Amino acid sequence: MADEKKMVGDVYFPAPEVIANAHIKDYEKVHAEALADLPGFWGKIATENFEWYQPWETVLDESNAPFYKWFVGAKVNIIHNALDRHMRTAVRNKAALLFEGEKGDTRVYTYQQLNYEVSKFASVLRSLGVQKGDRVTIYMGRIPELMIAMLACAKIGAMHSVVYGGFSTEALHGRIEDSASKVLVTADGAWLRGSIVPLKQIANEALERAGTIQSVVTVKRTGQEVEMVSGRDHWYHDLMALPIADPKAPTEVMDAEDPLYILYTSGTTGKPKAILHTHGGYMVGTATTLKWVFDIKADDIWWCAADPGWVTGHSYIVYAPLILGATSFMYEGAPTHPYPDRWWSMVAKYGITILYTAPTAIRGLMRFGESWPNRHDLSSLRLLGSVGEPINPEAWKWYHRVIGKEKCPIMDTWWQTETGHFMITPLPCVPLKPGSGTRGFPGVDLDVVDEDGEPVAANEEGFLVIKNPWPGMLRTILGDPDRYVQQYWTRFQEQGWYLPGDSAKKDEDGYIWVIGRIDDVIKVSGYRLGTAEIESALVSHEAVAEAACIGVPDELKGNIIKAYCILRQGFEGSEKLEMALRDHVGHEMGPIAKPATIDFVDSLPKTRSGKIMRRVLKAQALGQELGDLSTLAD
Ligand code: PRX
Repeated sequence: MADEKKMVGDVYFPAPEVIANAHIKDYEKVHAEALADLPGFWGKIATENFEWYQPWETVLDESNAPFYKWFVGAKVNIIHNALDRHMRTAVRNKAALLFEGEKGDTRVYTYQQLNYEVSKFASVLRSLGVQKGDRVTIYMGRIPELMIAMLACAKIGAMHSVVYGGFSTEALHGRIEDSASKVLVTADGAWLRGSIVPLKQIANEALERAGTIQSVVTVKRTGQEVEMVSGRDHWYHDLMALPIADPKAPTEVMDAEDPLYILYTSGTTGKPKAILHTHGGYMVGTATTLKWVFDIKADDIWWCAADPGWVTGHSYIVYAPLILGATSFMYEGAPTHPYPDRWWSMVAKYGITILYTAPTAIRGLMRFGESWPNRHDLSSLRLLGSVGEPINPEAWKWYHRVIGKEKCPIMDTWWQTETGHFMITPLPCVPLKPGSGTRGFPGVDLDVVDEDGEPVAANEEGFLVIKNPWPGMLRTILGDPDRYVQQYWTRFQEQGWYLPGDSAKKDEDGYIWVIGRIDDVIKVSGYRLGTAEIESALVSHEAVAEAACIGVPDELKGNIIKAYCILRQGFEGSEKLEMALRDHVGHEMGPIAKPATIDFVDSLPKTRSGKIMRRVLKAQALGQELGDLSTLAD
């Protein structure tokens, strides 16, 4: 173990009372025990903290690696642990969800009420013909019905495929088509910065291109006129008022390894991939990581400020807090609407005890200065969290001092859509260094290695690798198991290691410093975008023959998108065309995917086999050495 007194760099030691109160008081001991007997470690946790309809025969089956299986032979449904079992205890009457809309409207759902709504919607979905194993696409803003729809799918054994409400027509269409969803659940609109995101209108456009959807269920949120297609489209409130909406709907009995959901994410090449998670391992992994890292207690008010449309929301807004019987807070709108203290006013109003957000949000709020948070009583906060991209030490320190009043440890959690739950993360008892996620969660064995898989020297950059399986790991890419193997398990196939696609450094104390992606994924404001999808949106415009995108560092957003376009004959580059192309990407993909700048060029650097060398574009844009150009075609 790192000798605390001799630790290198800027170190923040946990206060004795924080350690005394924490679920896990000795990281080193628990981590060592877990590594010594991984199935024993997770098996014990799974037995003591969860209810299973039928126990497993094997905790971890590695016989067909990298297609690992967890809790093999067990029967379970994540909803049984997230809702059903709470109906027998006092948790039933506790608030599961506190909600505030952007306009200030509020709602509270107790566990009993949430279960009632979920059961009703589960039977509505059944009556629309949704069966175990079917896919349901959900495209909504941050409102309770989004959570209800997800939970209802899980309850009947259907896979939800949530498409982030900030995505647009083509992104939605592609994800519906790939998943072959039968039903789409959406809303008329979502409130954002005082205006309406026209979700139903975008969905209608996407559905003109997609054929598999038989029914659309629309939640009335914003109330403007929307076009409803007769026979296909229903209002959520109409269906929920019918006798078919049965509050006693049974929960489907699932195998632990049955799919829970798919979630699309960008990878190295081509279309987004449908990452598949399962009921059993994901349940154990998400709930345990939340409990230990954010030290959830019965009276906490937990605010994960992510969007449920991304994995952070799936794991830590929807599933893990409910499994733990915790109270969550959800806010619909923008952090700065109507003023830059909106978030801080809600921390005070609801007595938020733990806040978990992204560095980009912290940097965005930091810009407005300290007077906005200082106006509010933030004394209820006891822990803070960060996720989605590396947090720069200045933002960490501001968050620590101005928001956490120097008493709240910051849990900088590194993980991915694929990992399902936290992988590199402090626990409250661990000394912190601003900008580092510290070490592996107990049982997660990781390292930073060179091309050959040899550990690199301290503070040198290398590939981050994960050396052993974990319960919430993705099981496959739906419909493309070869790509699953290729993308994650081939680079270090001999060693059997998982490749996350990030570069990192490890310091003298064994602390991990994640640097960023090594592939064609761009993180914009913490959102994960693939260059391929943005490029194909650009090329779908009549003026563009070829396009390439790269991410360039940005103080606020982490990265911004820079695009290069070769135009078709008859078109000329102009500011007007640049604007038109940006709008076109916004329309097809969504506002977050809009390139910040577009350069019109005559050629792009390519390999002899025709692959665009984005690395060269990036080096050029950043004024760096161009590196090895031997594969460049001309
Ligand atoms: O590059 C890493 C970065 O986000 C990627 C995963 O993105 P996504 O699947 O969208 O999941 C985001 C939320 C879990 C990683 O490969 N990343 C995530 N968290 C951190 C991070 N980079 C540095 N520090 C983090 N805490």
